[in-house]
Amino acid sequence: MTVKDYLDTNDFTKEELLGMVDLGIAMKQMIRAGRYPQLLRNKTLGMIFQQVSTRTRISFETAMTDLGGHAQFYGPGTIQLGGHESIEDSARVMGTLCDILMARVDRHVDVVNLAKHSPAPVINGMSEFNHPTQELGDLMTMVENLPAGKKIEDCKLAFIGDATQVCVSLMFICSKMGMDFVQFGPKGHQITDGGLQVDTSIDLLAIGQRNCEVSGGSITISDDIESIRGADFVYTDVWYGLYDEEASGESYLDVFYPTYQVTPELMAMAGPHAKFMHCLPASRGEEVTDEVIDGPHSLCWAEADNRKHSIRAILAALCPQTPLDPAAADAAEAQMNEALKALSRS
Ligand code: CP
Repeated sequence: MTVKDYLDTNDFTKEELLGMVDLGIAMKQMIRAGRYPQLLRNKTLGMIFQQVSTRTRISFETAMTDLGGHAQFYGPGTIQLGGHESIEDSARVMGTLCDILMARVDRHVDVVNLAKHSPAPVINGMSEFNHPTQELGDLMTMVENLPAGKKIEDCKLAFIGDATQVCVSLMFICSKMGMDFVQFGPKGHQITDGGLQVDTSIDLLAIGQRNCEVSGGSITISDDIESIRGADFVYTDVWYGLYDEEASGESYLDVFYPTYQVTPELMAMAGPHAKFMHCLPASRGEEVTDEVIDGPHSLCWAEADNRKHSIRAILAALCPQTPLDPAAADAAEAQMNEALKALSRS
């Protein structure tokens, strides 16, 4: 792969993304058979979290341990970044002290700046614009749960509800794969209305449409429930979340409930074989009912587990390996032993 950072799946080819999925599945099987690939032995991941997280934080930390490395957690207010020190200066320093960085940020521009100035690779752990590590885990979950006789490019995914960054991210990955993507959501909350992005000059739909020109996929944005018919995967996300503090939950309920709640009846509209997905955390009784999330067609627990398996692949694909130079290592070791000897005499 030629790209240093993992900020946006649009920076990668379909083959590269599916290659990371294959790598993640192979490592999952290897670890389940009791062997841990020590691909990141002695490597350190720096994890910057400006927002709360369960799945993303635990997946990154566990993935580093599984691969023989170590992860450091920096929560809000624990490092100088964005406070006493500019993002650019922090990026230069942290990208030297750590082998690889990840960041969940308040503003997408911050993770872009971090990557621009960090010598080490930077992974986007979610912004208001997109959630690319969630995308890879979701792709892995779909690849592992394809309907009989179908390839990924034959599948249809229907996203139900608000144009969150997860919804936009799904449009990106589905259009990259050549799938049919549908957002079934109310006017004012559709991808074409700008989603959660701060920079509304970015035409989100145009990015997806460019992907479709290459892949043969399609994108439909609609408030007509007929648009979800034949979906292989039905996906939803919260109606208000981390980036929606300014809006009250009550006003969101007025907009989305009951039309956009995923119920057994809505799943039946998609079709009898449709599988349910959710990035989690879920607000049970709002965007999804207990019968669906706990039902036999729910993939969301395997999907959460796949965060870790897919993040292992991203880390292994991006983290640079130190080239072995035995002669230089021998010479430096001799120098180190001399220095230790001198210190023990003094
Ligand atoms: N899906 C997801 O990103 O979960 P967390 O916010 O718990 O990391």
